[in-house]
Amino acid sequence: MVVLVPVTSVNWREVTRVRAAEHQRRWVADVTYYLCLSAYDGLWRSCAVQDEDSATVGHVMWAVDPEDDSHWIGGLVIDAAHQGKGFGRATVLALMTLWEHEEPSLSGTPYAQAALSVAPDNRGALGLYRSLGFVETGELSDDEVVLRRGRPAQAPLRGSG
Ligand SMILES: CC(C)(COP(=O)(O)OP(=O)(O)OC[C@H]1O[C@@H](n2cnc3c(N)ncnc32)[C@H](O)[C@@H]1OP(=O)(O)O)[C@@H](O)C(=O)NCCC(=O)NCCS
Repeated sequence: MVVLVPVTSVNWREVTRVRAAEHQRRWVADVTYYLCLSAYDGLWRSCAVQDEDSATVGHVMWAVDPEDDSHWIGGLVIDAAHQGKGFGRATVLALMTLWEHEEPSLSGTPYAQAALSVAPDNRGALGLYRSLGFVETGELSDDEVVLRRGRPAQAPLRGSG
């Protein structure tokens, strides 16, 4: 169980302490870079990933691609000390749940498809995304493979009578 809290002037310092393990740093940037991207690029929104005790265990950011309206996940980093406890999986699920319930009021764009990119040799992350229903599309973003997952169809409302 995680809570995604937008990064603000109140919590940004604790988010800068999130670090991938040494051997993982070739796959992601420093979290401070992601925070700057969110602050200055006008596209991404950074969130602190908090555990049930409100401790910050990770970072994730999201954005809507203006070209095709897909909802992108980026900058997913669970602090090395907290990996392998389900936080990464819970973070991706929490983002998609947020979009299902809050869009289009957050970004102005209805949620229809999630997307992300990952280095092809990042086996752990690839396994995680595939297990959540993300599928490689054949697209590349820089040197990373793009995976997408359509929004699951909503169950029809059942009326009585
Ligand atoms: C990838 C990452 C976010 C996963 O977070 P996590 O909290 O450790 O992952 P979880 O505990 O939720 O594990 C989810 C699944 O991922 C897979 N997984 C995670 N790390 C793995 C690893 N190093 N090797 C193999 N599988 C791994 C497991 O299959 C696991 O499946 P399970 O739930 O059936 O056990 C985390 O390892 C991380 O921050 N890595 C460095 C940054 C990075 O590569 N981010 C992704 C950029 S696209």
